[in-house]
Amino acid sequence: MPGTDSRAFFPAPSLADCWPWNVGGLAHSVCRVRVGGAARSERLPLPLPEPPPKHLLTSSTCPSESISSAGSCNSSVSNTRSSVQESIGPSSIVEVSKQLEWNFNELVHGTNNFSPSLLIGEGGFGCVYKATLRNTEYAVKRLKQDSELEWSTVKKSFLTEIEKLTCLRHPNIIDLAGYCAHGEEYCLIYLYLPNGSLEDRLNVKDSFQTLSWQKRVSILQGSACGIQFLHTYQPTIIHGDVKSSNILLDQALTPKLGDFGLARFSRYANDAGKSRTLARTSTVRGTLAYLPDEYVKMGKLTRELDTYSFGVVLLEVLTGRKAMECQGGSQTKYLKDLVKKEESDLEDEAGIDKGNKLSHVAARICQRHLDHRVGYCPADITKELCLLACRCLERQKKRPNMVEVMDVFIIF
Ligand SMILES: Nc1ncnc2c1ncn2[C@@H]1O[C@H](COP(=O)(O)OP(=O)(O)OP(=O)(O)O)[C@@H](O)[C@H]1O
Ligand SMILES: [Mg+2]
Repeated sequence: MPGTDSRAFFPAPSLADCWPWNVGGLAHSVCRVRVGGAARSERLPLPLPEPPPKHLLTSSTCPSESISSAGSCNSSVSNTRSSVQESIGPSSIVEVSKQLEWNFNELVHGTNNFSPSLLIGEGGFGCVYKATLRNTEYAVKRLKQDSELEWSTVKKSFLTEIEKLTCLRHPNIIDLAGYCAHGEEYCLIYLYLPNGSLEDRLNVKDSFQTLSWQKRVSILQGSACGIQFLHTYQPTIIHGDVKSSNILLDQALTPKLGDFGLARFSRYANDAGKSRTLARTSTVRGTLAYLPDEYVKMGKLTRELDTYSFGVVLLEVLTGRKAMECQGGSQTKYLKDLVKKEESDLEDEAGIDKGNKLSHVAARICQRHLDHRVGYCPADITKELCLLACRCLERQKKRPNMVEVMDVFIIF
């Protein structure tokens, strides 16, 4: 139903509509205000957030001088040399606060000796268990040595994850509750998020539990906000592994981006100059499904990589389909190819205005591929989001940056 007013679909704006924007450097919020009867978006200054607790930092903020090729923040989080470095060996990578270190026996107890009955997920780096520790529910990721990645790489990634997450504070970035390094056992402890990952929530079979459009849009907006925060942070941070399983949902379905270090280190080019991603994608399920061609070929981390991966997440949310589907035998179908397929189908049709190709492709995706399990959503919203997905999946130079992506959400 073109022209439907999306404001009829979403509740009227209130002060609660103000979205914290870029809590790091720019510190302003996006807020819908009414001027002369018309709703419009303005960025209003916001006070900077509280810094992380002093005991976690030697300096009050991350140093802004350098950005490594991995987009890593080089700050030390404590003067304390922890057992993590000792067990990994002499390292200048990061010094980790003792305050966040948990006792392994406590984790063994809280997870009932890593009982399979408490297993809530498994990824390329290890298994995730639900644990009750100190009367609170946590998710404990226990890194596994038999992952197809080198163990030394996994250990470095472990440090990066701690370094990043102790440094970053944002409503859409997951909170790290602690870590444990005990002999060859490495665990990361996060607050338990009862709604699991966005991937989990999109793949429910039961239509009663399917996420509404309103929730989907708000999850997309929050996820974009988290990525945009990373991209405008000083120094810039590129997530490098944006995907629906790395977007976790809390009680209120607020999205939290997770898995910072674990993906990143595995993607450094190796001695032969070949990106490790290629090795990883052949072993770790699904990662290739979120990567643009230029990254698969060159292995270079750029902001546009995250924009592209976010475009795939957008398509997952809009269509309710998986980023990668295996269709019997060895045939694999990638959702990221949907835009190209619709584009080529369109080219076969006569009388199409080529100048406006992307809008036509977006309209086709809207008509043919929207998740039929969900109820009605105003067409102007779905069309706008399909168009945004198409733009994010364009070739590198044409992709919008994450600030531009966020601007699309402001109109809803
Ligand atoms: N803090 C958390 N709270 C609740 N569930 C979680 C939490 N962290 C992870 N999970 C669950 O564990 C699953 C596995 O997460 P994990 O990060 O290990 O693997 P992945 O994201 O599928 O793959 P990758 O290893 O490439 O990141 C998630 O999909 C989610 O269901
Ligand atoms: Mg993950």
